[in-house]
Amino acid sequence: MTATPDAKPLKGLFISTHGCQMNVYDSERIRDVLKPLGYAPVEAPEGADLVVINTCHIREKATEKVYSELGRLKQMKLASGGKMTIAVAGCVAQAEGAEIIRRQPAVDLVLGPQAYHKLPEMIARASRAVGDRLETEFDTVEKFDALPKTRDPDGPAAFVSVQEGCDKFCTFCVVPYTRGAEVSRSVDDIVSEVRDLASKGVREVTLLGQNVNAFHGPAPRLAGGADWTLGQLVRHIAKIGGVERIRYTTSHPRDMDDDLIAAHGDTPAMMPFLHLPVQSGSDRILKAMNRGHTADHYRDIIARVRAARPDIAVATDLIVGFPGETDADFEATMQLVRDIGYAVAYSFKYSSRPGTPAAEMHGHLPEAVKDERLQALQTLLRDQQTAFNQSQIGRVLPVLVTGKGRNAGQMHGRSPYLQAVHFGGTDAALNQFVDLRIVGASLNSLTGERVRARETAS
Ligand code: 5AD
Ligand code: SF4
Repeated sequence: MTATPDAKPLKGLFISTHGCQMNVYDSERIRDVLKPLGYAPVEAPEGADLVVINTCHIREKATEKVYSELGRLKQMKLASGGKMTIAVAGCVAQAEGAEIIRRQPAVDLVLGPQAYHKLPEMIARASRAVGDRLETEFDTVEKFDALPKTRDPDGPAAFVSVQEGCDKFCTFCVVPYTRGAEVSRSVDDIVSEVRDLASKGVREVTLLGQNVNAFHGPAPRLAGGADWTLGQLVRHIAKIGGVERIRYTTSHPRDMDDDLIAAHGDTPAMMPFLHLPVQSGSDRILKAMNRGHTADHYRDIIARVRAARPDIAVATDLIVGFPGETDADFEATMQLVRDIGYAVAYSFKYSSRPGTPAAEMHGHLPEAVKDERLQALQTLLRDQQTAFNQSQIGRVLPVLVTGKGRNAGQMHGRSPYLQAVHFGGTDAALNQFVDLRIVGASLNSLTGERVRARETAS
């Protein structure tokens, strides 16, 4: 390990991230919080001084993964003579922290999603083997305030957390219990983070929240007045020098207000991509899910968004096999998918989560029925995704170059529609916008050819 003369010797940090983009963001912030303590990221857990598993609790499968990963880490810890510190963070930590310590004594620390800023203090306690190993208090405001104010971006695209938690209580979902109530960051804090990132070369920001369009953050100090909505925030961020692309994820149909929809049409930095989970196309099931909207209400929102921005790519989340779902309910989901035409969709078999209302409902379906429905749905979604990608062939798209390909001379980036685009180019293009003519398309990516270098990155 290397050490500069006046810096502390580096300690290896390995973070394993499961689940959603919120966890990806949190893992970056964990890295930032630990940097002043001399922790530097390493590529593999073997030999690391600290391993953090940032966990996901959303479906049963995701939770099981944590325990099998912990089993492997325990062996590494033994091989290291006990030198490795193992921390479990994220939503499983929040939901079943005490259980984790009981089931896997090799775990040194357990901390919920609202406690990352306490990590340095917890590591110090663990090294002295004193105090509590569990930190799962809810205090999102304290977390927002305590996290480092500046950060080193990984590339030209960065997440910025603007909101956390959820008050919607969909009957299948653990998020309101693991991430707590909705809390929005202040506009001033968000703007200063975005300015800092833009000054370090970030060109694309994705505003992040469990229910991001429910954003209601305190207005800028100078402007005063009522809390701002996401639409107001987006329009304001679009004026920050260097920010050329804005995205947000993930949203709820109930919070798609007129101003946000209008911003898709009148704010050029707003990217033509909307991830709007619908979960089901059956009104009966949507009601049982406590989604607070009907299938036609959702169709109407998409129609209005498309009127504002005709080329918008629409993405969604879908669940098959919710308790009581009949063949007719499932067919209604298939019909909704045919009507909307998705660019991308994430589809899941319903997974019963302890403590949620749906877990107590009648009519849980056999695995085989869920499997069959998921297969039929995914076949349709794959066809739609491929068709959407192929519809780009022949167009010239501005692509933000985010990385190098596997082979020399290959680069990749992102289209406005969030598609991965591969093309032949050199490192000189990295972090820049290039115009690419799309010449190929598959299920998961596009192939492009350089049209001409841009004079500026606009
Ligand atoms: N079972 C299956 N899928 C779920 N999701 C959330 N909870 C469950 C569950 N219990 C899905 C939803 C949500 C996405 C993040 O995960 O589709 O939008
Ligand atoms: Fe879960 Fe529903 Fe909240 Fe999304 S809106 S996090 S699915 S409770």
